[in-house]
Amino acid sequence: MAFVEFRGVRKVYQMGEVEVAAVDGMDFSIERGELVVIVGPSGAGKTTLLNMLGGMDSPTSGAIVLDGRDISHASPKELTLYRRHDIGFVFQFYNLVQNLTALENVELASQICTHPLPAADVLRQVGLGHRLDNFPGQLSGGEQQRVAIARALAKNPKLLLCDEPTGALDYETGKAILGLLQDTCRDTGKTVAVVTHNSAFTAIADRVIHIREGRVAGVEVNDRPLSAEVLEW
Ligand SMILES: Nc1ncnc2c1ncn2[C@@H]1O[C@H](COP(=O)(O)OP(=O)(O)O)[C@@H](O)[C@H]1O
Ligand SMILES: [Mg+2]
Repeated sequence: MAFVEFRGVRKVYQMGEVEVAAVDGMDFSIERGELVVIVGPSGAGKTTLLNMLGGMDSPTSGAIVLDGRDISHASPKELTLYRRHDIGFVFQFYNLVQNLTALENVELASQICTHPLPAADVLRQVGLGHRLDNFPGQLSGGEQQRVAIARALAKNPKLLLCDEPTGALDYETGKAILGLLQDTCRDTGKTVAVVTHNSAFTAIADRVIHIREGRVAGVEVNDRPLSAEVLEW
């Protein structure tokens, strides 16, 4: 069995009289330790997919398996523990607590976990050893996203999920963040999934999952992914 499996997953939202199938029957798998890029146009269902994999939403039907465990029928309480222990989440707009320092933002997340990594170590690992005592407002966008990545990694999750992590960043900074995610995957062996609408990012992935209109339009496995450093778009 693969590390992650989606089997016939559907998510239907009821909008008054109308049903919207945001995810309309998805099947795919991800192997442990892979860097996966999930790519598709706006509205394709990428965020819905990621939120279900992250335990923030449950499928209408189908099965989602992580590390041998089917989470599609988990109770709200079980999903809380799943989000807390198994998943690290990185968002487009960082979502840091503004009146806590970089170090405190990371510590806040590790406090709710059973086996956290030392917050300062993880911040050093993402290149922010000199910024531990700065508040988010004193950091650049790229630095704030590094804090958000450190916060997710400090939980020592099984899976790191990133929804448009470079969406708010300029070209060079976005490239550096992709490089950090790629290095994290290589150096720590963590499974990392990055959602994007930018098809150029697919070149750095071990596995690419193309999404269109709520379905998987294709899957590619890259034997020789590019280093994020040499990526251009
Ligand atoms: N909570 C919701 N209620 C109703 N419709 C939704 C909801 N979330 C997403 N959708 C719809 O599902 C589709 C896929 O959305 P989303 O997963 O956000 O796509 P993407 O992240 O690829 O842009 C869109 O048509 C969107 O409007
Ligand atoms: Mg989205």
